[in-house]
Amino acid sequence: MKVKSIKIGDYEGMISSAPCNFVTGYYESTYTEYHPITEEYIIPRLPKNINTIIDFGCANCNNFIPFQNKIKDVKCVGFDLSAADQINFVCSKKNLTYYQCSIQDFVKTVNNWGNKYEPIDWANSLVWTQGTLLYVNKDGETDYCDRFVQTLLDLGCKNIFLHEYTEAWDNTIHGFVKFSEKYKKLFKIGEPDEMSHVMMEKK
Ligand SMILES: C[S@@+](CC[C@H](N)C(=O)[O-])C[C@H]1O[C@@H](n2cnc3c(N)ncnc32)[C@H](O)[C@@H]1O
Repeated sequence: MKVKSIKIGDYEGMISSAPCNFVTGYYESTYTEYHPITEEYIIPRLPKNINTIIDFGCANCNNFIPFQNKIKDVKCVGFDLSAADQINFVCSKKNLTYYQCSIQDFVKTVNNWGNKYEPIDWANSLVWTQGTLLYVNKDGETDYCDRFVQTLLDLGCKNIFLHEYTEAWDNTIHGFVKFSEKYKKLFKIGEPDEMSHVMMEKK
């Protein structure tokens, strides 16, 4: 089965200038493990209406596996920099859509997508990132972490779980997720683990 894929941009430059093997090592990988927080914390608390999981920085889509195992007919939407034909998709390809689209381009263009691409049911989606927002700190004067969250809220998304390095880590090679106070306040930060930023409706 071929994955439904949508190309928004070409990120060869971003991939080749990555601080280390943080891109190719992930999208070419056959790795099917996933962080236990998905099964132990997120899935048991998912509001009943959630029918779509959206992963920004999805790499080889390993993190969709627990959701596909537990939620019947769940739709999965992945965003990353690599071309679809270079990715070794390790999850089920049923109901999977892949966008070759950076977070920056998502923020800049999503409001102009109209009906051009697969419609995404943002109000009934959980957006999740892991080890991705740390690469999207500052672009000139504009803070893409804040803008990313604001864009999701504007689209009607109410459930966001970010699993990212914070300033508590001295992560000088990769950086860490950075929000202004206004956006930090929207999340419960530091539970269930130090990397968690949680905004989820009650089940
Ligand atoms: C460290 S890997 C994490 C992969 C996966 N989320 C996981 O938990 O295993 C970082 C991922 O973020 C993606 N990425 C980096 N910068 C990005 C950006 N600006 N927009 C979208 N994805 C990005 C990389 O291509 C890579 O797949």
